Amino acid sequence: MSDKITIAIDGYSSCGKSTLARELAKSLHYVFIDSGAMYRGVTLFAIQTGCISSSELNRGLLISKLDEIELKFVLNPETKSPELLLNGENVEKDIRTPKVSSFVSEVAAIKEVRVKLVAEQQAMGSTGGIVMDGRDIGSVVFPSAELKLFITAEISTRVERRYQELIFRGTPTTREEVQENLLRRDHIDSTRKESPLIQTSDAIVIDNTTLSKSEQLEVAQGFVERAISTLA
Ligand code: DC
Repeated sequence: MSDKITIAIDGYSSCGKSTLARELAKSLHYVFIDSGAMYRGVTLFAIQTGCISSSELNRGLLISKLDEIELKFVLNPETKSPELLLNGENVEKDIRTPKVSSFVSEVAAIKEVRVKLVAEQQAMGSTGGIVMDGRDIGSVVFPSAELKLFITAEISTRVERRYQELIFRGTPTTREEVQENLLRRDHIDSTRKESPLIQTSDAIVIDNTTLSKSEQLEVAQGFVERAISTLA
């Protein structure tokens, strides 16, 4: 029996889920998938193809074009992190812009978008040995995952982390703008009809407000060891 498990990591935006998932996958030699990047890829496609004009999302048009979207991850040989290809083009940077962030929750609330991406995510994890982070990973994508983590952090900490990340990337913004975007996305992500963000009853909560990245990784590694030992 393979001792490679499936690890589902969920939580609100900018809680450090992807950082944890990436580091955990590296330390375990597992595949890491940032499912939010896929929703961002669909949002970028919507912008590029006129499904999103200045402030309106044309849901019907986007749904009619979903078959034209091919998403793939490739490993960056330098950072050893997966990067998203949208129809063959590396869009890892383009999917992190404020415009994509401001529309992604609305795109992710579309049922047809979720059906397509969930099927692709389940196929990626069919052999185990995967760490996937998102909003519905433990509830919908991998409900039988051997380990489910739910990551939380105080809003002020989330705002500061996201603000520093955007400034580091050279994106001009303010803490007020960042907080407004995070709270808006929290609201849409947790109240939408289709697979809202929930904490499943079998998920282990990690509040990383006062934890460094390495401390958070250590805590998670402890839970992984426990989950693997119970398989034997
Ligand atoms: O993790 P992120 O901030 O990059 O995710 C972007 C958006 O995608 C977020 O607002 C919610 C949505 N999302 C989702 O609905 N389901 C997932 N599994 C991952 C992300």
